[in-house]
Amino acid sequence: MLAEVLAEAAARVEAALDRYLGPEAGPPRLVEAMRYSLLGGGKRLRPFLVLSAARLCGGDPEAALPAACAVEMVHTYSLIHDDLPAMDDDDLRRGRPTNHRVFGEAMAILAGDALLTLAFEVMGEMARDPRVGPERTARAVVELARAAGPAGMVGGQVLDLEWEGRQAGPAELEAIHSRKTGALFAGCLRIGGIVAGAGPEELAALTEYARHFGLAYQIQDDILDVVGDPGVMGKAAGSDQRRDKLTYVRLYGLEGARQWAREQARLAAKALAPFGDRARHLVELVEYVVARER
Ligand code: IPE
Ligand code: IPE
Ligand code: MG
Ligand code: MG
Ligand code: MG
Repeated sequence: MLAEVLAEAAARVEAALDRYLGPEAGPPRLVEAMRYSLLGGGKRLRPFLVLSAARLCGGDPEAALPAACAVEMVHTYSLIHDDLPAMDDDDLRRGRPTNHRVFGEAMAILAGDALLTLAFEVMGEMARDPRVGPERTARAVVELARAAGPAGMVGGQVLDLEWEGRQAGPAELEAIHSRKTGALFAGCLRIGGIVAGAGPEELAALTEYARHFGLAYQIQDDILDVVGDPGVMGKAAGSDQRRDKLTYVRLYGLEGARQWAREQARLAAKALAPFGDRARHLVELVEYVVARER
């Protein structure tokens, strides 16, 4: 059952995240702000993708646990910054007031910076683990930097802001979404594969899955912004409309967006065909993603 394996992975990741952010990790108020967002809910899909890809490529998922934690730190930093008044200006995240609402803007910015930096420390330390070693660690670090950086997530966030309130077509829409959300998902799957010593064909199949998975995910995120229940999602609805964002719903309408999401889910599942039945959890995951309510 997907729900069970998801919950089990989330529990392992959360226990490890808790250990990385002990009282000695930094000044108490900073650690509190980091813990508030990092340990405050979240579906933990990105770490699940890291661990699943590692297992699928014949690796020990335990050896990939630091990488799974690192991607969740990067993701959480991106959410803290995404919610800032200078960006989406949202008040609710993961069912609680946003970080800047509780700790103030300066601390929210710094908690985000600290999570991003800590992620690379945690990833880099994998080099000492003989199951991973320096070579795979270096490749994984480069993947994370590329996924999160100017050509990936941060670049996508910039495009997302630049296109607010402007007319654009499918090409611009895909450019935003593939970067702001898709790049980190692709990074997760590739990092899991790399840590496990995957070959080029396996990495190519995972990357293809990730590309469609990311789009399916973000299309559903756009749909939920229109039809979702804030109480279930743990974040506000209507945020995109308020900011006049370029979203799938704005361009294709609700039904068009739903169709697109299903098509992307189909293509994602197809990309995993080389792995056969061993990839069933990842196939189920993308089906869940386009049906999810949170
Ligand atoms: C929300 O990500 C931001 C997007 C990239 C769409 P998630 O929906 O994965 O958020 P959490 O981690 O479960 O809170
Ligand atoms: C956020 O996209 C993407 C990143 C944080 C990189 P959104 O702005 O659509 O995410 P939500 O809807 O606030 O979770
Ligand atoms: Mg945003
Ligand atoms: Mg947002
Ligand atoms: Mg959104």
